[in-house]
Amino acid sequence: MPYVRAWLRSLSFRPTLFVEPFAGGGIIGLTVAAENLAERVLLVELDQQVAAVWQTILGGEAAWLAEQIVSFDLTHENAALVFSKPPSSMREMAFQTILKNRIAHGGILAPGAGLIKHGENGKGIKSRWYPQTLKRRILGIESLNDKIEFVEGDGISVLRQHAKLQRAAFFIDPPYTVDGKKAGKRLYAHNEIDHEALFTVTASLAGEFLMSYDNADAVAELAKKNQLTTRLVAMKNTHHAEMRELLIGRAFDWLD
Ligand SMILES: C[S@@+](CC[C@H](N)C(=O)[O-])C[C@H]1O[C@@H](n2cnc3c(N)ncnc32)[C@H](O)[C@@H]1O
Repeated sequence: MPYVRAWLRSLSFRPTLFVEPFAGGGIIGLTVAAENLAERVLLVELDQQVAAVWQTILGGEAAWLAEQIVSFDLTHENAALVFSKPPSSMREMAFQTILKNRIAHGGILAPGAGLIKHGENGKGIKSRWYPQTLKRRILGIESLNDKIEFVEGDGISVLRQHAKLQRAAFFIDPPYTVDGKKAGKRLYAHNEIDHEALFTVTASLAGEFLMSYDNADAVAELAKKNQLTTRLVAMKNTHHAEMRELLIGRAFDWLD
């Protein structure tokens, strides 16, 4: 987020629309909305499970979801019971997604992810389950719902739809699967991105944008081919390890 904040502050205008076309947890878009850094925020996500969480919270069911979470007695048996039947509604799917995200190894939703056995500090399945924090976050997001719009769909199509919008800003953080990179494949169910098409539409945007990718030669080549500039920056991943991430944009004077 520090980079995105610095970048947004460097713009000569306050965006009428801030778009996060590969939203995931949408932390950047949420911060932009909470700090009023743009008039409106548009989040896009293709994964149905993740989309269910956004639609539930922003669609008037945040209180229900928060209540489900704080009243849930988390044990292996109760969790297994929840996952034993397919969700019968969007809000149930949202609950399943959050539960899975909190008790699966690394929070991974993609098929095949195992559940925590020992967890952090030997706290087992409960080691990342903070119901009151989740409730606060969910209600906090709901309070921003007049500023945030969520679309379940393809981020590249949404970029095309908004390509001519001038006072817009796009933060583009796609799954990292260029060059056969494994991270995006393991972490996300939806990882088949047409990176060429994404670069083409991004380079054509009338608005401002910042892209974030894994540092791979093929990404640098795509950037070059589309006359874009790259910068390697330090980032912390979910395990708080230092990682290098490649930022892609038109210019990086705001970083100097
Ligand atoms: C690198 S993650 C984004 C992480 C996000 N910045 C965050 O802070 O949570 C990429 C996300 O894009 C989603 N995704 C994959 N293909 C997509 C597509 N075609 N359109 C929209 N979202 C897509 C994945 O499901 C995943 O949630």
